[in-house]
Amino acid sequence: MSLHLETRAIHAAAPDLSGSRPVSVPIYQTSTFAFTDPVACSEALADPGAGFAYSRYRNPTTSALEDAVADLEGGVGAIATSSGMGAINAVLLALLRPGDHVIAQRCLYGGTFSVFVGLAARYGIDVSYISGRDAAELTAALRPRSRLLYLETVANPTVAVSDQPALLAAARSAGLTCVVDNTFATPLLCRPIEHGADIVLHSATKYLGGHDDVTLGVIVSAQDEMHHALWKNSVDLGVAADPFAAWLTIRGLKTLSLRMARHCENAAHLAERLAAHPAVAEVHWPGLPSHPDHAVARRLLSGFGGMVAFDVAGGREAGLAFVSALRLAALAPSLGGTETLVLHPASTSHRQMDAAGLKEAGIGEGSIRVSVGLEHPDDLWADFAQALPAG
Ligand SMILES: Cc1ncc(COP(=O)(O)O)c(C=O)c1O
Repeated sequence: MSLHLETRAIHAAAPDLSGSRPVSVPIYQTSTFAFTDPVACSEALADPGAGFAYSRYRNPTTSALEDAVADLEGGVGAIATSSGMGAINAVLLALLRPGDHVIAQRCLYGGTFSVFVGLAARYGIDVSYISGRDAAELTAALRPRSRLLYLETVANPTVAVSDQPALLAAARSAGLTCVVDNTFATPLLCRPIEHGADIVLHSATKYLGGHDDVTLGVIVSAQDEMHHALWKNSVDLGVAADPFAAWLTIRGLKTLSLRMARHCENAAHLAERLAAHPAVAEVHWPGLPSHPDHAVARRLLSGFGGMVAFDVAGGREAGLAFVSALRLAALAPSLGGTETLVLHPASTSHRQMDAAGLKEAGIGEGSIRVSVGLEHPDDLWADFAQALPAG
């Protein structure tokens, strides 16, 4: 068939790669897929494992990421979403009904806390907060409509480590669905499904992506039925990740193990130096024997992580003065990337909490959260030392 220039410009054909394959997963930057067989088209829209029809349902680049994260977490399948909050909302909206009851760890990412406040106001979904240190506390909080337990492996921002095996066992025996946000630990340090989690969540914006250049979330399920239900709900909500964001995250995963090892090493250096500084009232890092969850962290984690929190003596004013004086580390609301980032949670990530809530969650007015990056530890310490008051 002889075609006009206008038509030929539109119908550029993808090359046939017979005999070779791309080593790096290509970016399938397409919103839709063409079929010769109409039955195959309808099957691909009905089943998460049956081909590709429309990128809100499934996309090959995104699927490559989903399979990789599901494998790392030991799940049956994963769903990549447009952000970590997209993953959290997709799970909570799929599993909870009006009048249900949730048991959650008291110290959580501020955005998650805000979602729980919204669910209570709109759907009468009550949340009971527990410390995460004691399974008996969970048992005491159970109600007839208790549906879900929500934990973070390492909690934002106090780096508390909940006794995941004990809590998940107690929750499962009470019939609760167990959801764990594993963003701070990554599957390199902890695999919650091995301890009984039904669903593992990630803000891949953080360590999985690892370079502060992508916004993406992941939902990993331990069982097929759950995965299928969450996939259907995510398709309806329209929270699909963009293929380019998925591709950046796949690239990040390739160096995850190297980065996590160095994040942990650098965090150990910084935590020890901060602990010895006279202007620092307290250092929170699960690798320090003084941390209240050190024993649990030793059992649960295969590394103590790259997140450190500390309290500058002198409260809010001293904390804000410290973050303003830094030259190498940046004041920025994210974590898990190559650059060291700091945050003053009371005025930023946890601003949704009132003074009593902050106190209960263990967040001080002068608390600083540090996402320890991959710089040389001496350069990092030189920056922190010049920004801290002499003591
Ligand atoms: C532990 C945790 N979970 C979830 C989120 C939300 O992720 P995102 O910003 O990708 O929506 C964050 C963001 O900081 C987080 O720290």
